[in-house]
Amino acid sequence: MYISKLRLQYLRCYQQLTLDLPPGPNLFVGPNASGKTSLLEAILLLATTRSPRTTYDRELVQWGRGWGQAAGRFEFNSGSPRAIAVTLQGQESSDPEDELPPSYLTGAKCVQIDGQVVNSVARVVGQAPAVLFTPDDLEIVKGSPGVRRRLLNMAIAQITPRYLADLHRYRRALRQRNKLLKQVAQDRADGAGLAPWTSQLVEAGVRISADREQFLNQLSPVAAQLQSQLTGDTEQLGIRYSSSLAGAGDEEQREAAFREQLERQFARELQRGATQVGPHRDDVEITADGWSLRRFGSQGQQRTAALALKLSEAQVIGQRRGELPIVLLDDCFSELDNRRAGWLLELLGSFQQVLVTSAAASDSLREADWAGCYELEGGEVKQTQGVAATDG
Ligand SMILES: Nc1ncnc2c1ncn2[C@@H]1O[C@H](COP(=O)(O)OP(=O)(O)OP(=O)(O)O)[C@@H](O)[C@H]1O
Ligand SMILES: [Mg+2]
Repeated sequence: MYISKLRLQYLRCYQQLTLDLPPGPNLFVGPNASGKTSLLEAILLLATTRSPRTTYDRELVQWGRGWGQAAGRFEFNSGSPRAIAVTLQGQESSDPEDELPPSYLTGAKCVQIDGQVVNSVARVVGQAPAVLFTPDDLEIVKGSPGVRRRLLNMAIAQITPRYLADLHRYRRALRQRNKLLKQVAQDRADGAGLAPWTSQLVEAGVRISADREQFLNQLSPVAAQLQSQLTGDTEQLGIRYSSSLAGAGDEEQREAAFREQLERQFARELQRGATQVGPHRDDVEITADGWSLRRFGSQGQQRTAALALKLSEAQVIGQRRGELPIVLLDDCFSELDNRRAGWLLELLGSFQQVLVTSAAASDSLREADWAGCYELEGGEVKQTQGVAATDG
């Protein structure tokens, strides 16, 4: 799948933008603060209803505006195109120009698919999958386990619609169970009250864990293959699900294992007032030739591995969905040496659409085979190569 048209209004530095986009690799070049990340952020907003940069939607709305909107037209290999629009509320504004049409006034965020308001996030996520890589994604390798769990969550949510609901139930059960554990420890509540929360925790946790393991099993060989393409066959990347439930077997066995672990940890749980095992403690082990990249990897090795992981995430979503997601690469060439940059360029051809941004594009980057090239400056986007831009 790919995005053929993007329209932004009052979003970040974009007052008004209409952009036609061809499939294939596209290059966006612009100096710092010219709107490169904002452009990719808007596409991810359409794909996931969220910004990768902030949890405060309001921050995306152009300063001083009452609302902002991103809209996109997505084309699929099978099935008809889909129009997705996300409208966000900004600050109170007295400017009559800032009046929103009534159909959008359904709260701080309104998502529409083909003109119909959609109330559940779960029904939007995965409609038009996209995968973003930014320099911050170094944290996938270097950062805390929470960063890697987030990667799993974002990827699986785009493949398995019920995953977000399971995650939601799990978190709720965990919160309630932890609260109660503290009370039981202080003799302020009866331990019997834990049972229903434990059941919900186990039920949702078993599904989450099975989804994660299945996803990583599928991801691991793809990531290894991409890593070897990105490093000229010099590094063997290993990806492994690290969890007390890893390899626990089918659903029934996984459930028995989870229950047994919870029972075994019960004394410690009471002591700490918190659930000690389960998917909220999951991690992903990332190794190169068997040693931990997190602990021993060079900056460049970690960056390449993070990139291989993200690109393999896109491949796996493609395998599972039958439609390759849009790949968004924010400023990832600047940190790679020439050879790795060349290998990455070759890889871009295996995706249906890739949007690449660069602040300082080298000549060799500019001269690569792009379907479209664009220059950004102060919230304007000018096409310099490829299919003709329209003002539609
Ligand atoms: N809500 C907002 N309203 C108006 N402008 C904003 C808003 N949020 C951010 N900006 C501005 O938008 C501009 C573009 O930011 P963006 O992060 O997209 O730039 P960039 O091209 O990715 O830069 P860099 O190369 O430094 O990463 C910046 O000047 C930023 O201050
Ligand atoms: Mg940027």
